[in-house]
Amino acid sequence: MTSPLKTPDTDPPGWLERRLPVMSLLRRQYVAFPMPRNLNALWSFGAFLIVTMAFMIASGLFLAINYTPDITQAFASVEAIDRQVPSGWFIRSLHMGGVTMLFACLYIHIGRSLWYGSYKAPRELLWLTGLGLMLMVMVTAFAGYVLPWGQMSYWGATVILNAVHAIPLIGQPLSELLLGGDTLGNVALHRLFVLHFTMAFAILGVIALHVAALHVVKSNNPSGVDPVNPSQTLPFHPYYTSRDGFALCLFLMVYAGLVFFLPDLLTLADNYIQANPLVTPRDIRPEWYFAPFYAILRAVPSRLGGLLLASGSLAVLFVLPWLDRSTIRPATRRPMVRLSLPLAFAAFILLGIAGMHAPTPAWLLASRVAIAWWFIHFLLVMPLASEREMSS
Ligand code: HEM
Repeated sequence: MTSPLKTPDTDPPGWLERRLPVMSLLRRQYVAFPMPRNLNALWSFGAFLIVTMAFMIASGLFLAINYTPDITQAFASVEAIDRQVPSGWFIRSLHMGGVTMLFACLYIHIGRSLWYGSYKAPRELLWLTGLGLMLMVMVTAFAGYVLPWGQMSYWGATVILNAVHAIPLIGQPLSELLLGGDTLGNVALHRLFVLHFTMAFAILGVIALHVAALHVVKSNNPSGVDPVNPSQTLPFHPYYTSRDGFALCLFLMVYAGLVFFLPDLLTLADNYIQANPLVTPRDIRPEWYFAPFYAILRAVPSRLGGLLLASGSLAVLFVLPWLDRSTIRPATRRPMVRLSLPLAFAAFILLGIAGMHAPTPAWLLASRVAIAWWFIHFLLVMPLASEREMSS
């Protein structure tokens, strides 16, 4: 019997197909979909992101069943998940390790798109939906980190909510909306819990938009030249399903290593102490994935200035398709970008390392140099390079 997915277009449509042509849609979009032949392993990270999101939502649902969003019980309920709920430690470790895998894939996915110029016309909307996803993932991770109500949850959130408070005009009402009062307490914890899981489902919706946008403009590729005839493409199935499937096995091995052997590799020990508003930890540090932005906040003496620079560092990505109008896509074919972009990647990593260290004068200086390079790259080098390439 032929599988419904394999039914050729010439066959008369069946009962279901005449009413809801979902099989032909799946076949067009995920079986016969034409893909460039020359994609490299960096094109598998989108699939990793989707699978990690699925793990996060599944494990999150089980955690939510046992979690109590109340400041007197939240910490104990998380301890109970770790120690008493059958396989609770595993579900929690999946969720915590998943955040690390998600952000690592997200940063590599963005880096790949920057290196190969995948943000350029006609892929601007694909890029913007991706950036929307990044912001949503960040808000979700921030809200989730407060839930265990440990020392870092409490003090980390206090730092960020103070920063939100400094935003002109909307800062005060926004922080009041989140806190439900003046301080971080029960109302805030409840609101952040609701924000955390509703945001997670909203992310699924935006992923659907992101992939739909991708299927309209199709994938870019390392050469930066779109295929012009069918001989330059391969159908998604079986070529990319098998390749992504293999890559996914390797990815899941790394994820499993983190979950089973190093569950606390990247978490901060202070978060295993219950939140205490009267005792400030000696060193308030964010998780690694927020460290670059934390380093920016700290490198500027004024709170508003730090906030403007931290949000500006992301805002430049939103306008990038219009800052860089050259039609040459991959950095490999752009001498200025090939030099300057790796330095911008290095600046981001340096900021991450600085954000995880105490703000000594040396780290503050390193952060300032890195911030300067980040902005020089996007606001000066990219427009200049594209100007030169367009006029030559
Ligand atoms: C949860 C978050 C995300 C998911 C699940 C996701 C998923 C995907 C998938 C499945 C693909 C196709 C495979 C691939 O090219 O790797 C893709 C492509 C793409 N994504 Fe994402 N993405 C996410 C976040 C982002 C972000 C944050 C950006 C950029 C800021 C972004 C920009 C792009 C671009 C430009 C492409 C096309 C790349 C090309 O063809 O060269 N995505 N995404």
